[in-house]
Amino acid sequence: MAYPIPEAENSAEAAFSKSYSSMGTFQKHRGRLLLERVEVADGATVLDLGCGTGAMIRDLQKAVGASGRVIGIDPDAWRLQLARAGIDQEAAAVRFIEAVATDLRGVADETVDLVFSNYVLHWVLDIPAMLAELFRVLRPGGQFVCKCVGDPIPETVEMFSLVPGGAKVASERTFLTDAQWRHHFTNSGLSLEWIDRVAALVDFPDLNTAFSWLASSSNGGFDPAKLDTADRQWLEAKYAAQVTFSINEVEFLLTKPAGINQRP
Ligand SMILES: C[S@@+](CC[C@H](N)C(=O)[O-])C[C@H]1O[C@@H](n2cnc3c(N)ncnc32)[C@H](O)[C@@H]1O
Repeated sequence: MAYPIPEAENSAEAAFSKSYSSMGTFQKHRGRLLLERVEVADGATVLDLGCGTGAMIRDLQKAVGASGRVIGIDPDAWRLQLARAGIDQEAAAVRFIEAVATDLRGVADETVDLVFSNYVLHWVLDIPAMLAELFRVLRPGGQFVCKCVGDPIPETVEMFSLVPGGAKVASERTFLTDAQWRHHFTNSGLSLEWIDRVAALVDFPDLNTAFSWLASSSNGGFDPAKLDTADRQWLEAKYAAQVTFSINEVEFLLTKPAGINQRP
């Protein structure tokens, strides 16, 4: 199934987060599917790891009920600003922290029931350090549910390869095999409940919208202005009829075993 992306304005540097938010329909849909795969208790504390512009914050507020708590974490201050503006003031309390997944020092030990993360972990380069932080903040019995891009997206790899420095930017991602994920999980002290691969297609109304998404999601790492004329024309011909990216997602659920407060 393919999901359309709403038309986006052309993003300039400071407007990346705004542009990014306007193109979040696909990711929000994927996030909702992920949230359906876990049980969230009334009154729970949920941490949205890499919350971005807050696409899933209202869904998480609803899931934890009025007495629950939501913590949104993201290193991008622009995105957090939009996330702050979008919360439901009448629902569960929300706190935002500007931080990376590998350093959650604003979150106390064993205070989180569920870490939820949608479309983020492919950006996190040090997975063992992140899992150590999640082990620390999760209560015994707490869970970590994640969906992220599981493999390089062939269409975007090709586009990145056509701009100077793009290949390097495209390679600075975490794409692991299931065996590598399992290896990290075993070393983290968290127990794997399930790991799945899911294929998804995302459609763009035209090439400029796809470029805009790539530029904003890479914070300018992909700059379509740097394409040379011949390459741009080649891409325009290739994607004249349809612009679709094929995504192979990886998703998994981990539990911190009850009664364990020390990593192995
Ligand atoms: C594709 S967006 C997903 C946003 C949101 N989870 C959603 O479903 O719409 C990825 C987010 O991960 C954040 N991010 C990138 N590197 C990160 C890191 N090392 N730790 C935490 N978040 C990170 C980015 O700032 C961005 O907001």
